[in-house]
Amino acid sequence: GGIPPLDLAALIRTIPDHPKPGIMFRDITTLLADPVGFARSVDALSAPFRDGRIDKVAGIEARGFILGGAVAHQLGAGFVPLRKKGKLPHKTVSADYALEYGTDAIEMHLDACQSGERVLLVDDLIATGGTALAGLSLLRGAGAEVVAAAFVIDLPDLGGAERLRAEGLPVTSLIAFG
Ligand code: PRP
Ligand code: HPA
Repeated sequence: GGIPPLDLAALIRTIPDHPKPGIMFRDITTLLADPVGFARSVDALSAPFRDGRIDKVAGIEARGFILGGAVAHQLGAGFVPLRKKGKLPHKTVSADYALEYGTDAIEMHLDACQSGERVLLVDDLIATGGTALAGLSLLRGAGAEVVAAAFVIDLPDLGGAERLRAEGLPVTSLIAFG
């Protein structure tokens, strides 16, 4: 009985030298395209928070929308999109984060979450953690209680999960690639 095991890591496609030489790009499109792989990923991301009274799931554009929307449905939570700058139509708050060259920014609607709401941050992958830290600052700035951050993939060598934990945020991930 029970649920048969599934090797999620085997459903991730690795593209060497994308988008530049030396980068091993972890491509989740193959996981998303697999019906069982997608369902199991969403279930596993959601499971630790089933009894956690999550009010909102915040997903980071773009791949965090795919997973975060499904997790929000599983948890009976609302969904908050954290978008690349210039995309949201109403009043926003913005947080800059570092790219390899220069900076980018993500934005959230000012009224997207209320003070004291319990929020789960979701994205497909954490690398340096810059994107997730920017999302964390937007949510905390709105007075949200950010309960945890959940990722399919952690690249621990890049230190992002440790940076989030140093901010007092619990981090879960389904797969680590060294
Ligand atoms: C990727 C990924 C995370 C972020 C992780 O998104 O989906 O959001 O990078 O990197 P970090 O931990 O070093 O910040 P990307 O910026 O490529 O955007 P996309 O999903 O729109 O392609
Ligand atoms: N895959 C997908 N997104 C990423 C990666 C990766 O390996 N590294 C940083 N963002």
